Amino acid sequence: MNTVYSIEEIRDYVQTAKAAGKTVAFVPTMGNLHDGHLSLVTKAKELADVVVVSIYVNQLQFGPNEDYHSYPRTMEQDEALLREHEVDMVFAPTSHIIYPEGPEQHTVVKVDALDGMHCGKSRPAFFTGISTVVTKLFNIVQPHIAVFGEKDFQQLAIIRKMVSDLCIPVEIVGAPIARAESGLALSSRNGYLSAEELEQACMLNKELLKAREAILAGNANYDIIQRDATAHLAEAGFLPDYFNIIRRSDLHPAGPEDKELVILAAAALGKARLIDNIQIDL
Ligand code: PAJ
Repeated sequence: MNTVYSIEEIRDYVQTAKAAGKTVAFVPTMGNLHDGHLSLVTKAKELADVVVVSIYVNQLQFGPNEDYHSYPRTMEQDEALLREHEVDMVFAPTSHIIYPEGPEQHTVVKVDALDGMHCGKSRPAFFTGISTVVTKLFNIVQPHIAVFGEKDFQQLAIIRKMVSDLCIPVEIVGAPIARAESGLALSSRNGYLSAEELEQACMLNKELLKAREAILAGNANYDIIQRDATAHLAEAGFLPDYFNIIRRSDLHPAGPEDKELVILAAAALGKARLIDNIQIDL
């Protein structure tokens, strides 16, 4: 495994692999890798001959008061994990490579239909930052396949729509959420939690499981389920952002006629903003 930093190097590597008849899968990350990221690598290895992972903390997707500067950067540890998992190539550009004139001067890609809801309400520039950097990474790496986690459900939906709307020739594959034994979805931001908060944090998943059980048992009073779950989270010391029962197809509020649902939830606990979701098939 090698790490390259320039657009030319990664393009050369992928073009050579393709010319040799190999398929290429790509896993974009912001580093500080955990078993969630590594499960995407495992999936990518099943799907293609060559796996490329990018590590890049994308300033454009952080708000002015968010954790861009303190976001954990653990390059050596990440490279060791990727080597262990037999990744073929790491692309680790600097911001100068991705945004030579600075992120604020850059052309953006905005998926209007999906980016203002849920997480986009409290983080207005977040998804534009993501769709922009993912477009760039796709154009730089030019993989056949890219793997994203269902943990970031809205992100995955936005990338799928972006690729479809803009005719980007990359197949998008979703991978299930990797969780700790407690049920807590693994996340780089879990590192911000104290030992006590870490114990509390699995409540987010427990509320999702309870809500799913209620819905599967026939409770279609989604407003009340959402309100109760939000209240429980607040009582337990979270600062809930949203708990939304929605349609998987377009991320709009679910009604009694909808069969393919997902509940998206976000809540702050201490210094960490946690997100999680659960899918329901009625
Ligand atoms: P990051 O948070 O590092 O996540 C990289 C990928 O890992 C995403 O596809 C995310 O959904 C997936 N992932 C994270 N935690 C997971 C878990 N517990 N189970 C399964 N998959 C998980 O998401 C980003 O980076 C960025 O927004 C990025 C797409 C790289 C653009 O900057």
